[in-house]
Amino acid sequence: MSKDLNLSDINYEDLFDRSYQRLLGNGCYNVNLIDAFYRLFMSKSCVIAELFAETNMSAQKTMLHDSLDSMVEFSRTKTITPYLQKLADIHGKGGKQVPLYLFDVWLDSLMETFYQQDPQFTKSEELSWRLVLSPGIVFIKFICAKK
Ligand code: HEM
Repeated sequence: MSKDLNLSDINYEDLFDRSYQRLLGNGCYNVNLIDAFYRLFMSKSCVIAELFAETNMSAQKTMLHDSLDSMVEFSRTKTITPYLQKLADIHGKGGKQVPLYLFDVWLDSLMETFYQQDPQFTKSEELSWRLVLSPGIVFIKFICAKK
């Protein structure tokens, strides 16, 4: 482990809040960041590019910001809102049938984008995002895996 990777004695809630403010919290969509994310995510696999083949990407980009907020909310409340349920259904068996392994690619691509777009983004911030987004991802994967 590199010596700057001291992950103990950190309050990950506070760290996440500061990181979120810097990356997404200025009151409007961070268009560059979301653009860069989709470019990177789609470049990861032709399966992903095909799933988005019919998608209006500009609408998709504004929705990503809102869905991130709803995952942050879920990590705090552990209460499934109608929005989060709909988001899961869109990806699941009755919807786009997203293969489960792509959710790891999604999260890895988001983290890679943050490193590219924000020179201040650190390893411990990465962990704070992974911790916060994981409950929402677990929920969406759970719905997607349902028979
Ligand atoms: C937890 C991670 C994810 C979040 C937060 C997320 C977010 C979203 C949002 C907000 C929408 C639009 C929903 C609407 O129409 O109201 C959407 C649709 C979609 N997502 Fe995701 N997504 C995630 C993971 C994935 C993954 C891993 C894939 C795999 C390729 C994927 C592919 C799609 C596709 C194909 C659509 C439908 C686009 C259309 O309507 O044409 N998503 N997603």
